[in-house]
Amino acid sequence: MKLYRALQSQGFGSRKACMAQVRMGEVAVNGVVCDDPETEVDPAQLELTLDGVSWLYREKAYVLMHKPAGYECSHHPRHHPSVFALLPPPLVQRGVQCVGRLDQDTTGLLLFSDDGQFIHRMTSPKKGIAKVYRADCAEQLDDAMLEALRRGVQLNDEPAPIAALACEALGGRSLRLTLGEGKYHQVKRMIAAAGNRVESLHREAIGGQVLPASLPAGAWRWLEAGDLTRLEQPWPSATS
Ligand code: URA
Repeated sequence: MKLYRALQSQGFGSRKACMAQVRMGEVAVNGVVCDDPETEVDPAQLELTLDGVSWLYREKAYVLMHKPAGYECSHHPRHHPSVFALLPPPLVQRGVQCVGRLDQDTTGLLLFSDDGQFIHRMTSPKKGIAKVYRADCAEQLDDAMLEALRRGVQLNDEPAPIAALACEALGGRSLRLTLGEGKYHQVKRMIAAAGNRVESLHREAIGGQVLPASLPAGAWRWLEAGDLTRLEQPWPSATS
């Protein structure tokens, strides 16, 4: 693969812009500055350095973020900044999308990718990949409410009741809810249908991949092969 094409595929700008950056000596390949954009490079072992930042070539991008409150999962946010503003420009430029959305006030594990098949697998209700949430509720929890969530609650516009894969009280007014789908406002609507109200919501895990405790709100990291395997673990997964 030509160097300028490798750069373009990783989100470093148009063909013309990538060629110009190389010609100006702004790009290092595996640590060595290269000023010929037509140089053949091996994508299997390719580290690109631009502006002092190293980027491993990745055919597809898979990213995990600790979403903070007050950000919208949209390229065209209406009332709050976009989660895409928290990613470096090359990731946005190469077209990563949110893998399912979180509400602006929801925090926790959010995935991004430019791999359409991966996005489909992670979000399709048929695949049943578990999404694990911690919800703090406005009212006291009771057994009837927890049981309703386990057995299934009727949501408007849904043909049949929807049941949580799992539901457990965590003490106080908090509960952990595991869902196999990702419908619009699903946790808030299910908890409302069970007679309570969500005051704050946090996604702890997807499949067997837990939000790393060391990742602060607003930060992101790449997902590596082991993380991807964990993500696609069918329910009941390692987090259960
Ligand atoms: N369910 C909700 O109600 N909101 C979210 O952000 C995610 C799941």
